[in-house]
Amino acid sequence: MQTVTVNGKEFIEYLTNEDIQEIVKKLAKRISNDYKGKNPIFLAVLNGVYVFAADLLRELSINCEISFIKVRSYDGMQSSNTIKQLIGIDVDLSNRHVIILEDIVDTGNTMQQLVKQLCQLNTASLKICCLLFKPDALQQANLVLDYVGKNIPDKFVVGYGLDFDEAGRHLGGVYQLKID
Ligand code: IMP
Repeated sequence: MQTVTVNGKEFIEYLTNEDIQEIVKKLAKRISNDYKGKNPIFLAVLNGVYVFAADLLRELSINCEISFIKVRSYDGMQSSNTIKQLIGIDVDLSNRHVIILEDIVDTGNTMQQLVKQLCQLNTASLKICCLLFKPDALQQANLVLDYVGKNIPDKFVVGYGLDFDEAGRHLGGVYQLKID
């Protein structure tokens, strides 16, 4: 099993890039079927989502658009309850089919806050797509995740865009924190 050291902590390979590409293809197929002729707009949540967004969009067989917002909720390895919106929504989403794109849902606090905000924008529909989901960490019981790539254990992960204090985003696979 391959291990990497990121910011002095050891991580073990959990998903290879090939595993992730399979997951992304399945998500893209479902979304392409569900949104035929609807020209959805993806609202991708920076920073971590940039790799997933690039791969997912290239697997879609439908027309679509993408826009980015930037939020910060994580401090080191801890999710915080205060979500800072660093770059806001800069497109008109009224009457649009919106799909929020997120790398990982952990407590669900970020998504819950975003959904609350987007519900006021008169969108034609609103769905959430995330690559990874930690069901055991969820604090927002009412949050509906429409497209989930893979459920994972409640352990900190890096790679494929996900960071540990900004390091590790460049790794092709996803690596899980080694707990001794
Ligand atoms: P939530 O609000 O607790 O659901 O956290 C969502 C955000 O926290 C994600 O967009 C990630 O940026 C970050 N995050 C959650 N879990 C991890 C992890 O295991 N590794 C890296 N970042 C994470």
